[in-house]
Amino acid sequence: EDVWRKDLKMIHGYPMIYAFALNWERIEEFQSTPGDIVITTYPKSGTTWLSEIVDMVLNDGNVEKCKRDVITSKVPMLELSVPGIRISGVELLKKTPSPRIIKTHLPIDLLPKSFWENKCKMIYLARNGKDVAVSYYHFDLMNSIHPLPGTWEEYLEKFLAGNVAYGSWFDHVKSWWEKREEHPLLYLYYEELKQNPKKEIKKIASFLDKTLDEEALDRIVHHTSFEMMKENPLVNYTHLPTAMMDHSKSPFMRKGIVGDWKNYFTMAQTEQFDAVYKKKMSGTTLEFCTDI
Ligand code: PPS
Repeated sequence: EDVWRKDLKMIHGYPMIYAFALNWERIEEFQSTPGDIVITTYPKSGTTWLSEIVDMVLNDGNVEKCKRDVITSKVPMLELSVPGIRISGVELLKKTPSPRIIKTHLPIDLLPKSFWENKCKMIYLARNGKDVAVSYYHFDLMNSIHPLPGTWEEYLEKFLAGNVAYGSWFDHVKSWWEKREEHPLLYLYYEELKQNPKKEIKKIASFLDKTLDEEALDRIVHHTSFEMMKENPLVNYTHLPTAMMDHSKSPFMRKGIVGDWKNYFTMAQTEQFDAVYKKKMSGTTLEFCTDI
């Protein structure tokens, strides 16, 4: 099988990256432990940012400890699997000491059952859909395992229809929002993290039963700012081979701002997005900032 195929494969009704979808049983059967902390997001919602924050919180804001390894090893991605070159999140996690921080983008229905059974703590980070679409479009230009995006116009159609890896953004943010009522899940927003990082980091620390002094909190805010992370080779994804991510096409640490969608959406596209939003989000109490 060509593991570098650039199309998607359906898994229980969700479009999944082709290489990840091979040997899916391994992911389904994944065994969690009660101390695992799950970072769950729709792609391009600030996962890497939150991952570094959580690692820093667990390490009391100790910058040196947080430099012990690259982000992909400190916070392995559960469903990452490229059989041809023996990359497997599941295998990596087996070797990771507790407390493990586990990254995933899986839709709620695809998350291995073990996480629910063990009542693992989960932190969900949601980002407004328009910025996610713009960020995802650029990501699909630079990485080798997602399908190519086509033009921005073509890409947005696919995004709105949920024909991108991990499926519909609307369904993702909505279903994880509903889950917080029955499971230990902290639901955060990229926009709030950007606006007041210290406040959100305090929420994270308290959720993880950590008490941090002001200095530790300030160190975390500083070390995880976009400017610092963009220049940090341990977290900016430049450690991966160019064949997997080509930063000359678009850097992984691209802009890190709120509202970049305004530079890409035409008026008609904004109206189209808002119409889909209204339809897909009716009946949920989930709200995104509207003033962005
Ligand atoms: S992935 O591949 O799904 O795990 O990507 P993810 O990390 O979720 O999202 C990447 C976007 O997050 C931005 N980013 C940040 N924003 C603010 N502060 C910090 N520290 C930060 N780190 C990463 C990154 O730039 C991507 O967004 P865009 O809009 O493309 O710049």
